[in-house]
Amino acid sequence: MLLSRTPDSPLETRYVDLIYLRIADADGQSSVIAHGNDVTESVLATQELSRAKQLLFDQFAKLPVPTYLWESREDDFVLLISNEAAVRAAPSHGSRAIGRLSRDLFPGMDAVREEMATALRDNVVVRCTAQFDGGPKLGMRRVELTIGPQQPSRVLVHAVDTTARIELEAQLRQAQKMDAVGRLAGGVAHDFNNLLTVIGAHAAFLLESLDSGDALHEDAEAIQKAGIRAAGLTRQLLAFSRKQILKPSVLDLNAVVGEMENMLRRLLGEDIEIVTRLAPIVKSVIADASQIEQVIMNLAVNGRDAMPDGGTLTISTQTMTIDESSVHSQHIVPRGEYALIEVSDTGVGMDATVKARLFEPFFTTKELGKGTGLGLATVYGVVKQSAGYILVDSTPGKGTTFRVYLPAVEPSAARDDLRVAEDSAVRGIETILLVEDEPAVREIARRILIQKGYVVLPASNGAEALATSAAFDSTIHLVISDSVMPGMTGAEVVRRLQEQRPGLKALFMSGYTDDEILRRGIVSSTAAFIQKPFMRDDFSRAVREVLDG
Ligand SMILES: Nc1ncnc2c1ncn2[C@@H]1O[C@H](COP(=O)(O)OP(=O)(O)OP(=O)(O)O)[C@@H](O)[C@H]1O
Ligand SMILES: [Mg+2]
Repeated sequence: MLLSRTPDSPLETRYVDLIYLRIADADGQSSVIAHGNDVTESVLATQELSRAKQLLFDQFAKLPVPTYLWESREDDFVLLISNEAAVRAAPSHGSRAIGRLSRDLFPGMDAVREEMATALRDNVVVRCTAQFDGGPKLGMRRVELTIGPQQPSRVLVHAVDTTARIELEAQLRQAQKMDAVGRLAGGVAHDFNNLLTVIGAHAAFLLESLDSGDALHEDAEAIQKAGIRAAGLTRQLLAFSRKQILKPSVLDLNAVVGEMENMLRRLLGEDIEIVTRLAPIVKSVIADASQIEQVIMNLAVNGRDAMPDGGTLTISTQTMTIDESSVHSQHIVPRGEYALIEVSDTGVGMDATVKARLFEPFFTTKELGKGTGLGLATVYGVVKQSAGYILVDSTPGKGTTFRVYLPAVEPSAARDDLRVAEDSAVRGIETILLVEDEPAVREIARRILIQKGYVVLPASNGAEALATSAAFDSTIHLVISDSVMPGMTGAEVVRRLQEQRPGLKALFMSGYTDDEILRRGIVSSTAAFIQKPFMRDDFSRAVREVLDG
């Protein structure tokens, strides 16, 4: 390498090939001849080429799709190179995979080898699917392969993992099917309920008019009993189609399970050992207690039926967070925090065909008269109506585990929800005169009050309020007034209204702090007062308090 300068141009780097020649004189003196050949252009081109190659290689290595370059060798292919995604997809291969035959790396994938050979022979891009074992962590994977020929003897293979997508599609189809069946069942149940009401009522009329000794009495009784049983069935169908009226409350699953334990012991009999494993603290859920009991009971009874020779039924609870990493294995349950009830048995288990249909109404493997096939349909409906998820894990001969995920609520949210339940305590039917100059605030306050059942007379300033009051010839129970308004202040409006209507109660609203209002003498220290901005519940509670005070 030389640094050289042509006159008047900047210093630049040139690459020169030098040849030195030593020349020896006859008298033993020697000298050297140097011959230089400027090869800068060619060196730069080579450097550029190797940079481009490195770039290409880096991109190959980082391709997000597992990619393999194979070279044909006798009746198989040998792996020349694979990228990082390929190593992640089959970690068991490690870095030792390079140079090995496809037969060793992917045993049992002869079909894929044939497709690779076809792609090369016919010089066409071939697409196919394959299954392979991704090891204990990943399990069986399903991949979509794109095989591109690289003449004369190589193929480049992209492998896209579609396991999760295919499974999700299957789950979606299943959910759609359940939805359709649910709608049908709900419609049938609804119409049947009407018919059953008629049947039941007429059976009751008949029974009333028939002597208990009458030969027809028994027949009428049979009709009534069948009607009651049919009503039970339609109730279950309605549960499945999520058309039940829920009475949700904030529930502690540990308490629900705890209260059921004795009942379950009696119900399941002595051959079944019941074990409960309750997490010390499990987050609350919002659900209908009697329905959750029904869920647990149906699962427990199924467990018993699966253990005709006895066994163990385990009921456990825990709080579980589904984050991104666990979404992978249980993608049916979206990310979030859940309270989980698990019911497992050591019974006969079930195969894939039963598993695929078990939530369908009227699907049963039990003999005629033993099961209606509505137990799990009911469970499914209740869980869905409670915004939850149910998963099942079963191995024939080993046993079955049902997991019910219900969205956990934060303690504060639980309290908020209770407050909603207390809602009735802050309602009323009184008449309220609402004076507020700001239209948006007036509208919000008016809507809250109407929602709570009050009759509202709105006014946008003092003069309007006085006119409304004068024109209204029934009782006004309360005036709610802004404190600072153009024209009359709130205190003035209220004073003049109270002249018209002695004993009229008043609630002041203000955007100022109470201190300031008191200091400026806008409102007397004894007046009821609510600070803006206010929350709906605080506002309706304040209104109720003044009315009741
Ligand atoms: N724990 C379990 N172990 C093995 N198989 C089960 C289990 N739970 C349910 N099954 C299978 O699912 C089917 C449907 O259950 P489901 O509770 O809906 O109906 P059923 O128990 O047959 O009748 P019903 O509950 O209406 O009396 C059962 O017949 C059984 O084949
Ligand atoms: Mg059942």
